[in-house]
Amino acid sequence: TRPLKAAVLGCGVVGTEVVRRLHETRAALADRVGAPIDIAGIAVRDLERPRDLGVDPALLTNDPLELVKRDDVDIVVELLGGIEPARSLIVAAMEHGASVVSANKALLGEYGSVLHETAARHGVDLFYEASVAAAIPLLRPLRDSLGGDDVTRVAGIINGTTNYILDRMTETGGEFDAALREAVERGYAEADPTADVEGTDAAAKAVILASLAFHTWISPADVYREGITGVTAEDVADAGRQDCVVKLIAILERAGGQHGIQARVHPAMVPRTHPLADVKGADNAVVVQAAGAGQLLFRGAGAGGIPTASAVVGDVVTAARKRLLGHQETFTRATATGRGIPMREL
Ligand code: NDP
Ligand code: HSE
Repeated sequence: TRPLKAAVLGCGVVGTEVVRRLHETRAALADRVGAPIDIAGIAVRDLERPRDLGVDPALLTNDPLELVKRDDVDIVVELLGGIEPARSLIVAAMEHGASVVSANKALLGEYGSVLHETAARHGVDLFYEASVAAAIPLLRPLRDSLGGDDVTRVAGIINGTTNYILDRMTETGGEFDAALREAVERGYAEADPTADVEGTDAAAKAVILASLAFHTWISPADVYREGITGVTAEDVADAGRQDCVVKLIAILERAGGQHGIQARVHPAMVPRTHPLADVKGADNAVVVQAAGAGQLLFRGAGAGGIPTASAVVGDVVTAARKRLLGHQETFTRATATGRGIPMREL
C-alpha cells in the first residue's frame, strides 16, 4: 500500500508535538493504519525560527496554500488557529480531495456547519476531537456512542487556561495576572489569551458540544458569556470560606431559548464536594446527562501540546484508516498474547 501523506499547517505548541509524534511513531502508526503516514510538508509563518522537530527542515514552507493543493496530500492537519487563513485553507484542501483534521474551536464554532457541508460535498472527512477538552475523548462518544440516546445536559470545565488561573488563585492566593502569565508559558492559552479569560474560547467549544449533543448548530452569539477577568483574589478567598471553589463553567441544556437549547459560560461557585471542584491545573471535566446512559463523567488534560497532539494524531489515524478502507469498519490486527491478569493494588 502506498504511504499516505499528511500536510501539517502550523507548528507551534500543538503542531510541534503532532509532527514529533507522526515522525517518531511512524512505524507503529503504519502497523495500526495499514500504511505509513508520511509528512508531506509543514506550513509555518516564520521559516527562520529555530525548531527542534527531528524531521527534514526542507519539509517546512511558508506557503500553506501551495501545500494543501498538492495532489499527493491525503490529509490536511490544520493547527494554525483563528478564522483566516485557516478557513480558506481547509476549504481548498477539501476541494482538492483531502480529509481534514483540525483543533481549531474558534473556526469550528463559527463555521462548523458550513465546513461539514463542504466536506460532504467533496466526499472527504472532517475530524476535530482536539478542539474541545484537548486529550479527553468527548466529541466522538457524544456523536457515536450516545448517538442513539437523548442527551439532556452537558456541563463542565472546558477551558484549561481559566481553570489553571482559578486553581492557582485558590491554592496560592496568587494574583490573576501572574497565573495567566504561567498559563501562557505552559502553552495552555490561545495566541490571544483574551479568548480564554473572556470566555469566547469556552463559548466556541459550547457550540461544538451543542451540535453533537443536541444535533443542532447554534451560533457563538447564542451562548451567554461571562469570563473570569472580574474574578478577584477576594472572590476566590470568599468562595473558600463558604467551602466552594470558583470555576469557569459551561452549561448546555435542553430548555426554552433559541433552538430549544440554553447555552451559557460563566464563573460559578462550586461546592468542594462536587465532582468538578477538584479539577486541577489545566485539566477539564465534563458531565453529560443522557436519558438512557444516565450521568457520565469525562475528565483529563484539557490543554497543552502533548495531550492535544494525542487527540489530533488519533484523528489523523482515523482519517487515514478511512482513506484506506473507505467506509469499512476498522479492526484490530494484532493478537494479544494472553498472560493472565496480575492482581495489583488500585
Ligand atoms: P501556536 O500559536 O503555538 O501555533 C500556531 C502555528 O501556526 C505557528 O507555527 C505559526 O507559525 C503558524 N501560523 C499561524 N498563522 C500562519 C499563517 N498565516 N501561515 C503559516 N503558518 C501560520 O498555536 P497552538 O499550537 O497553541 O494552537 C493551534 C490550534 O490548536 C489553535 O486552533 C488552538 O486553538 C488549538 N488548540 C490549542 C491547544 C493548546 O493547548 N495550545 C489545545 C487545543 C486546541 P510560526 O511558528 O512561524 O509563528
Ligand atoms: N486555550 C485553550 C484552553 C486550549 O486553555 O482550554 C485548549 O483548547
